Amino acid sequence: MTRWGIIGTGDISDRLVPDVQNTPRGQVAAVWGRRDEAAAAFAAAHGISIFTSDRAELLRRDDIDVVYIATPAATHADIALEAIDAGKHVLIEKPIATSAADAERILAAARTAGLFAMEAMWTRFNPLHVEVRERIGDGLLGEVTAVRASFGTPFHPRGRVQTPAQGGSILRDRGIYPVTLAQWYLGAPRAIHAIGEFLDGVDVEGHATMEHEQGVAQLAWSGVRFLDLSATISGERGWVTFAPMFWAGSTAMVHAGSAARIFGEPEVIQHPRNGNGYGPMIAAVAEAIDDGLLEHPWHTHRDTIAVAQTMDAVLAHMSPAASTS
Ligand SMILES: NC(=O)c1ccc[n+]([C@@H]2O[C@H](COP(=O)([O-])OP(=O)(O)OC[C@H]3O[C@@H](n4cnc5c(N)ncnc54)[C@H](OP(=O)(O)O)[C@@H]3O)[C@@H](O)[C@H]2O)c1
Repeated sequence: MTRWGIIGTGDISDRLVPDVQNTPRGQVAAVWGRRDEAAAAFAAAHGISIFTSDRAELLRRDDIDVVYIATPAATHADIALEAIDAGKHVLIEKPIATSAADAERILAAARTAGLFAMEAMWTRFNPLHVEVRERIGDGLLGEVTAVRASFGTPFHPRGRVQTPAQGGSILRDRGIYPVTLAQWYLGAPRAIHAIGEFLDGVDVEGHATMEHEQGVAQLAWSGVRFLDLSATISGERGWVTFAPMFWAGSTAMVHAGSAARIFGEPEVIQHPRNGNGYGPMIAAVAEAIDDGLLEHPWHTHRDTIAVAQTMDAVLAHMSPAASTS
């Protein structure tokens, strides 16, 4: 049995908790909310017997193995370090932190304490991505030469009230998926060209072309307009397109292997979503903890830090495309 403590009672906790409860050997032992009434309501809605607004109280419990942290990004580092200090393994929502330096601090602390730590990059465990990645690894596309991915809808997830101090960056919130996908296939970039739009000091849209050792990535993200929610991996022998929403994909089209596939009907790969889609990641975390691992080989500390470093660099390179205030 893997016993989970939940930190945060927002949207994503609401969606992830049922998937924990439906995972074999997964159990939610307690929930923390910063307001008593929110914690009580969340516990009642999900059938969790223990709730509290005192985080130290939750972290002291010895019936919790792993803590899931789903609060605003700017709070992740402090809360993760508290949890690690209390001897808990941690699964931390994306982005793991609001800088590569903080990501390193969290992951180093967990390693030193001999605890498992991972950013909750669920896409990496999504069965469609697992299959496509394996097949690309086996040569489906030959060498990968390009990644294109975008994620834009005109609703900033937490409204326009979030300040940079609260970690309101749309790059870190949404752009993290295109950047992570590009780095899986192309590694870290050696050069970045980026433009962006800022609102009250917060980046609300960005477009980046990244040069990698073996190819190019074209990435875009927005909280203020639609940018299609698909992604494409191209290589020497063709391409694979993930239908929207690519990061939570259930359908991909393979245009590779023959002229008919390239110019005519692609092969369609489908993996219907189970529950809310977090089950495979939750099961993988539980298994890694059981095996005594400190990081998951599919989303390592190094990968996590490399993406955080790229996001730091993209923000530093982003010249304003337009400015509104
Ligand atoms: N993997 C995914 O599919 C996915 C999807 C969406 C979001 N996320 C990530 O999940 C995290 C949370 O997002 P969300 O959409 O669930 O946000 P949300 O709905 O705004 O919920 C945030 C939670 O954190 C609490 N909170 C707010 N400010 C806090 C503070 N200063 N200190 C401690 N707790 C605080 C909120 O409490 P109150 O209710 O009292 O405000 C609420 O319980 C973010 O990192 C986000 O990027 C992941």
